Amino acid sequence: MADYKEIINRYKDLPGGIIEAYHALQREYSFIPEDSIAYAAQVFDLPLAKAYGVATFYSYLKVGERGKNVIRICESAPCHVAGAKEVVNALEKELGIKMGESTADGKFTLEFCECVGQCQATPVITVNSKPYGDITPEKIPGILAAYK
Ligand code: FES
Repeated sequence: MADYKEIINRYKDLPGGIIEAYHALQREYSFIPEDSIAYAAQVFDLPLAKAYGVATFYSYLKVGERGKNVIRICESAPCHVAGAKEVVNALEKELGIKMGESTADGKFTLEFCECVGQCQATPVITVNSKPYGDITPEKIPGILAAYK
Protein backbone atom coordinates (compact mmCIF):
# COMPACT_ATOMS: atom_id res chain seq x y z
CA MET A 1 0.00 0.00 0.00
CA ALA A 2 1.32 3.42 -0.92
CA ASP A 3 2.39 5.74 1.86
CA TYR A 4 -0.06 8.60 2.40
CA LYS A 5 2.70 11.17 1.99
CA GLU A 6 3.59 9.80 -1.39
CA ILE A 7 -0.07 9.91 -2.48
CA ILE A 8 -0.51 13.51 -1.31
CA ASN A 9 2.73 14.62 -2.97
CA ARG A 10 1.41 13.49 -6.36
CA TYR A 11 -1.18 16.28 -6.25
CA LYS A 12 0.81 19.06 -4.67
CA ASP A 13 1.13 21.21 -7.79
CA LEU A 14 -2.44 20.90 -9.00
CA PRO A 15 -5.02 23.61 -8.40
CA GLY A 16 -7.51 22.17 -5.91
CA GLY A 17 -5.09 19.30 -5.46
CA ILE A 18 -6.12 18.66 -1.87
CA ILE A 19 -9.49 17.32 -2.96
CA GLU A 20 -7.85 15.10 -5.57
CA ALA A 21 -5.41 13.92 -2.93
CA TYR A 22 -8.21 13.07 -0.50
CA HIS A 23 -9.97 11.12 -3.23
CA ALA A 24 -6.79 9.21 -3.98
CA LEU A 25 -6.31 8.46 -0.27
CA GLN A 26 -9.82 7.19 0.00
CA ARG A 27 -9.36 4.98 -3.08
CA GLU A 28 -6.23 3.51 -1.53
CA TYR A 29 -7.39 3.05 2.06
CA SER A 30 -11.18 3.38 1.68
CA PHE A 31 -11.00 6.34 4.08
CA ILE A 32 -8.75 9.33 4.79
CA PRO A 33 -6.24 8.49 7.51
CA GLU A 34 -6.44 11.07 10.28
CA ASP A 35 -2.66 11.69 10.28
CA SER A 36 -2.64 12.47 6.60
CA ILE A 37 -4.73 15.63 7.12
CA ALA A 38 -1.97 17.46 8.97
CA TYR A 39 0.43 16.48 6.24
CA ALA A 40 -1.97 17.66 3.53
CA ALA A 41 -2.33 21.01 5.34
CA GLN A 42 1.43 21.41 5.22
CA VAL A 43 1.79 20.41 1.56
CA PHE A 44 -1.08 22.59 0.35
CA ASP A 45 -0.12 25.41 2.68
CA LEU A 46 -3.46 25.57 4.44
CA PRO A 47 -4.36 26.00 8.10
CA LEU A 48 -5.06 22.62 9.70
CA ALA A 49 -8.70 23.56 10.34
CA LYS A 50 -9.18 24.28 6.67
CA ALA A 51 -7.63 20.96 5.62
CA TYR A 52 -9.99 19.22 8.07
CA GLY A 53 -12.87 21.28 6.77
CA VAL A 54 -12.29 20.08 3.22
CA ALA A 55 -12.05 16.45 4.35
CA THR A 56 -15.27 16.58 6.31
CA PHE A 57 -17.28 18.82 3.97
CA TYR A 58 -17.96 16.19 1.32
CA SER A 59 -20.17 13.39 2.55
CA TYR A 60 -18.46 10.85 0.29
CA LEU A 61 -15.13 11.43 2.00
CA LYS A 62 -14.61 9.60 5.24
CA VAL A 63 -11.98 10.45 7.85
CA GLY A 64 -10.96 7.74 10.24
CA GLU A 65 -8.62 5.16 11.55
CA ARG A 66 -8.59 1.54 10.54
CA GLY A 67 -7.63 -1.36 12.71
CA LYS A 68 -4.39 -3.29 12.38
CA ASN A 69 -6.18 -6.16 10.66
CA VAL A 70 -8.67 -5.29 7.96
CA ILE A 71 -11.26 -7.99 7.36
CA ARG A 72 -13.25 -7.66 4.19
CA ILE A 73 -16.19 -9.68 3.08
CA CYS A 74 -17.04 -9.99 -0.57
CA GLU A 75 -20.55 -8.78 -1.25
CA SER A 76 -20.66 -9.49 -4.98
CA ALA A 77 -23.54 -11.67 -6.13
CA PRO A 78 -21.95 -15.16 -6.05
CA CYS A 79 -20.72 -14.66 -2.49
CA HIS A 80 -23.96 -13.03 -1.50
CA VAL A 81 -25.97 -16.00 -2.75
CA ALA A 82 -23.60 -18.41 -1.03
CA GLY A 83 -24.39 -17.00 2.41
CA ALA A 84 -22.27 -13.88 2.92
CA LYS A 85 -25.01 -12.47 5.13
CA GLU A 86 -24.58 -15.20 7.74
CA VAL A 87 -20.83 -14.66 7.64
CA VAL A 88 -21.33 -10.92 8.19
CA ASN A 89 -23.47 -11.70 11.22
CA ALA A 90 -20.82 -14.06 12.58
CA LEU A 91 -18.03 -11.47 12.09
CA GLU A 92 -20.06 -8.72 13.75
CA LYS A 93 -20.92 -10.99 16.66
CA GLU A 94 -17.38 -12.27 17.12
CA LEU A 95 -15.85 -8.76 17.12
CA GLY A 96 -18.75 -6.88 18.72
CA ILE A 97 -18.76 -4.21 15.98
CA LYS A 98 -20.78 -3.49 12.84
CA MET A 99 -19.54 -3.47 9.25
CA GLY A 100 -17.51 -0.31 8.59
CA GLU A 101 -16.39 -0.09 12.23
CA SER A 102 -13.16 -0.87 14.07
CA THR A 103 -12.73 -2.55 17.43
CA ALA A 104 -11.87 -0.29 20.37
CA ASP A 105 -8.48 -1.97 20.77
CA GLY A 106 -7.61 -1.01 17.18
CA LYS A 107 -7.03 -4.62 16.16
CA PHE A 108 -9.82 -5.20 13.64
CA THR A 109 -11.85 -3.34 11.03
CA LEU A 110 -14.76 -4.82 9.11
CA GLU A 111 -15.42 -3.74 5.53
CA PHE A 112 -17.26 -4.92 2.47
CA CYS A 113 -15.46 -5.43 -0.83
CA GLU A 114 -16.23 -6.46 -4.38
CA CYS A 115 -15.36 -9.83 -5.90
CA VAL A 116 -11.78 -10.79 -5.10
CA GLY A 117 -11.57 -13.40 -7.84
CA GLN A 118 -12.07 -16.42 -5.60
CA CYS A 119 -15.60 -17.23 -6.73
CA GLN A 120 -14.83 -20.95 -6.84
CA ALA A 121 -14.90 -20.88 -3.04
CA THR A 122 -17.78 -18.59 -2.06
CA PRO A 123 -18.38 -16.99 0.35
CA VAL A 124 -15.00 -15.35 0.64
CA ILE A 125 -13.42 -13.09 3.25
CA THR A 126 -9.96 -11.54 3.19
CA VAL A 127 -7.83 -10.68 6.17
CA ASN A 128 -5.20 -8.07 5.22
CA SER A 129 -5.76 -9.13 1.59
CA LYS A 130 -5.22 -12.85 2.29
CA PRO A 131 -8.29 -14.69 0.98
CA TYR A 132 -10.16 -17.36 2.93
CA GLY A 133 -12.78 -19.28 0.97
CA ASP A 134 -15.77 -21.52 1.68
CA ILE A 135 -16.41 -19.55 4.84
CA THR A 136 -19.12 -20.62 7.24
CA PRO A 137 -20.05 -18.76 10.44
CA GLU A 138 -18.46 -21.63 12.40
CA LYS A 139 -15.03 -20.97 10.83
CA ILE A 140 -14.90 -17.31 11.85
CA PRO A 141 -13.63 -17.63 15.47
CA GLY A 142 -10.79 -19.92 14.37
CA ILE A 143 -9.65 -17.62 11.57
CA LEU A 144 -9.76 -14.49 13.72
CA ALA A 145 -7.95 -16.18 16.60
CA ALA A 146 -4.79 -16.21 14.48
CA TYR A 147 -4.84 -12.39 14.32
CA LYS A 148 -5.74 -11.53 17.90
S1 FES B 1 -18.05 -13.06 -5.81
FE1 FES B 1 -17.03 -13.20 -3.98
S2 FES B 1 -15.04 -13.73 -4.57
FE2 FES B 1 -16.06 -13.49 -6.42
